[in-house]
Amino acid sequence: MDTNDSLFERARQSIPGGVNSPVRAFGSVGGSPRFMKKAQGPYMWDEDGKRYIDYIGSWGPMILGHNNPEVIKAVHEAVDMGLTFGCATQREILIAEEIKKLIPSIEEVRLVSSGTEAGMSAIRLARGFTGRNKIIKFEGCYHGHSDSLLVKAGSGMLTFGNPSSAGVPTGVTEHTLVLEYNNPSQLEDAFKRYGDDIACVIVEAVAGNMNMVPGKPEFIQTMRKLCTQYGALLIVDEVMTGFRVALGGAQSLYNVTPDITMFGKVIGGGMPVAAFGGRRDVMEKIAPCGPVYQAGTLSGNPVAVACGLATLKLIQQPGFYDRLSAQTSRLIEGLKAAANQVGVTFSARSVGGMFGLYFLDKCPEGFADVMKSDTKRFNVFFHSMLDQGVYFAPSVFEAGFVSITHSDEVIDETVKAAKVAFEKVASI
Ligand SMILES: Cc1ncc(COP(=O)(O)O)c(C=O)c1O
Repeated sequence: MDTNDSLFERARQSIPGGVNSPVRAFGSVGGSPRFMKKAQGPYMWDEDGKRYIDYIGSWGPMILGHNNPEVIKAVHEAVDMGLTFGCATQREILIAEEIKKLIPSIEEVRLVSSGTEAGMSAIRLARGFTGRNKIIKFEGCYHGHSDSLLVKAGSGMLTFGNPSSAGVPTGVTEHTLVLEYNNPSQLEDAFKRYGDDIACVIVEAVAGNMNMVPGKPEFIQTMRKLCTQYGALLIVDEVMTGFRVALGGAQSLYNVTPDITMFGKVIGGGMPVAAFGGRRDVMEKIAPCGPVYQAGTLSGNPVAVACGLATLKLIQQPGFYDRLSAQTSRLIEGLKAAANQVGVTFSARSVGGMFGLYFLDKCPEGFADVMKSDTKRFNVFFHSMLDQGVYFAPSVFEAGFVSITHSDEVIDETVKAAKVAFEKVASI
């Protein structure tokens, strides 16, 4: 039994499932999760001292790689000034101004501490602003674990949803319509039927929670058009894509203007910062200016904001996203070639610094396609890579992330390991 096995056994005595967030438990790939001790640049080390090339990046935030010296310096300086005040601070203005500068659809922005909070608050705001209850989300998209968003499709696509988690009352989910991703005509039908009652549509423009599936431009444009036509708000969830797929987020790639945008991950640079923001007339419905209640003891925490602010500054260096995209493409192309060499059915793609690996003959277009993934082959690949010191997400439903510190050498080492892993896959 190695250190990770014994720590997992011990963790399960005091923590449900041994982890504080389910995907960390290796439930779908089997085996013990790795207990990490430290990280630097593109690497993490576990409690056994084994080194891994990290393609999770804490599920997105670590775009600069781990422990960027300028970010760490900013955090140290903030820590020395006090951990939290529960009062307004100047840095909160600076980060709000920085977000507004980079994302033109944002006129005002409110900081929270997690993407879940951002999603929950954005939905409440949309309902409060429109005076309507019904919301539309898409199968395979994830917007955090608040009640009204933990929904699976009803008996027919145009019937309202059922809870996807125990403990969520049907009274909450009965207002949520779950539609197929990348299906604009179904969205049109839904608006024809319920349009005057719909408060908002919430979407990941590049979905990263059913592996990675980019929205089709027609799908996103139809959504914008219908929301405007029927007086519903468009919420684009950029918790994962914000400052990750491009400096201006997914909305810059699709040239779409959301009414509300959610952020998380990169804006905290590895600390708990998330946000929702958008049109001034919408945002001014929030307390203390308006009747929609929303609050947080640690919202805008000075240390976390210092970390986010330093990160947002560094990603604006000239050529940052060109390099990030090039490194991510290098990885994808290398992996595809390695799979091809031994005849393993495999496809992959990337958008900016985010990627999807699929044990499928072609890249998926929605949830039903992703469900066809060969999980047995993925698991063999995953464990072989892990043994060789390369850490991909432990599930076929997760996207992957590259940082600016993933050099050619790091990526080439990954591809070399993948050749061994694909050979194993080919032999099963
Ligand atoms: C697109 C998206 N929205 C919301 C969330 C929820 O964020 P958090 O885990 O910070 O609550 C996530 C988390 O992975 C996400 O990927």
